[in-house]
Amino acid sequence: DKMFTYKGTVLNLGDNYDLTPEYIDSLVDFETKDDDVFVVTFPKSGSVWTQRIMTLIYAEDFPDNANQITYYQMPWLEYRITGRDYNTRPSPRLFCAHLLQPLMPKMLQRKGKVIYVMRNPKDVMVSYFHFSNNMISLDSSENFDEMLEKFFTGCMLGGCWFDHVKGWITNKDKYNILILTYEEMIKDLRSVVVKICEFVGKNLSDAAIDKVVETATFKHMKKDPLANYESPSLTDTDCPKGPFLRKGTVGDWKNSLTVAQSECFDRVYQERMKDVPLNMVWDI
Ligand code: PPS
Repeated sequence: DKMFTYKGTVLNLGDNYDLTPEYIDSLVDFETKDDDVFVVTFPKSGSVWTQRIMTLIYAEDFPDNANQITYYQMPWLEYRITGRDYNTRPSPRLFCAHLLQPLMPKMLQRKGKVIYVMRNPKDVMVSYFHFSNNMISLDSSENFDEMLEKFFTGCMLGGCWFDHVKGWITNKDKYNILILTYEEMIKDLRSVVVKICEFVGKNLSDAAIDKVVETATFKHMKKDPLANYESPSLTDTDCPKGPFLRKGTVGDWKNSLTVAQSECFDRVYQERMKDVPLNMVWDI
C-alpha cells in the first residue's frame, strides 16, 4: 500500500506526485511534438544517468536551466509534480518515463523519439534491492529470496521487468527509437553519447562531447548535487539512507546471488523471454 499500482505499472506514491488512475489514463492522449525525446526505462536500468546525459547534450538550448536539478530540466512524465503543466514546457521537451509501453502517449508513435535503456535484469534486481531498502517509501526485502519473488511477480517499482522489456521490444518498430544498454554505456560512454547525438540530431563539437562524458561519469555525478538525486529529495517523506549512485558497475549480481538463485533466475528468464527477439550480451 506504499505504492500506486495501475494497469500493471507500479509507481512510487510520494507526497506530491498527484497520482490518480485518471492521470495515468490521460497520458495515452498526451500530445507529443516532433522534437520531444522520451527516455524510457524499467527502474534501476540507468534512467538517471541517461537523464543527465540528455540534459548535458541539450544544455545549449536551455542556458537558464544550467543550475536546475536534472529532474526539473527533464521531468518524469508519470510523476507530475503538482502544478506542473508539461504541455506548456518550451521545446525541445525532454521527458523520462518508467511506463509500460501501452500506457505511453499514443502520439509518440508518430511524433517524437524514444530512447529505451535496458540493463542486465539481475543487476536491475540487485540495484533495486539496495534502493528499496534505502527508501522509506518502498517495501524493503530481507534477503534475495524475497527480492527474487518480487521481481518475478512484478511487486516492485515499474511492475514486471519481463512485461516492460517485452512490451517495448516487441513494439519497437512502431517508434522512432534508439535502444541502449547500461552495459554499453559502461563499456564506452563516449560512443553512446555520440550515438544519442546522432539519433536526436544534435551536432556537438568533439570538445563538447568530451565535456558531456566527463560530467556524466559515475565519479562526477556522485558529487554533483544537480544530478545525484540526493539533495533535495523528490518527496518529503523519503529520506534516502544510502546513496542513489551506489556502485555503478556491471555484474554486481555475482557478489549478491547464490548459484542456486542465479540458476533459478536463468530458468525464469528463459521461460518468460523465449518469444522475445532480444540478443543482448549483458556481461561485458
Ligand atoms: S531509478 O530509481 O529507476 O531512477 O534508478 P536508475 O537511475 O534507473 O538506476 C540507478 C542505477 O544506475 C546507476 N548509475 C550510474 N552508473 C554508472 N555511471 C553513472 N553515471 C550512473 N548514474 C547512476 C546507479 O548507481 C544505480 O545502479 P547501482 O548498481 O545500484 O549502483
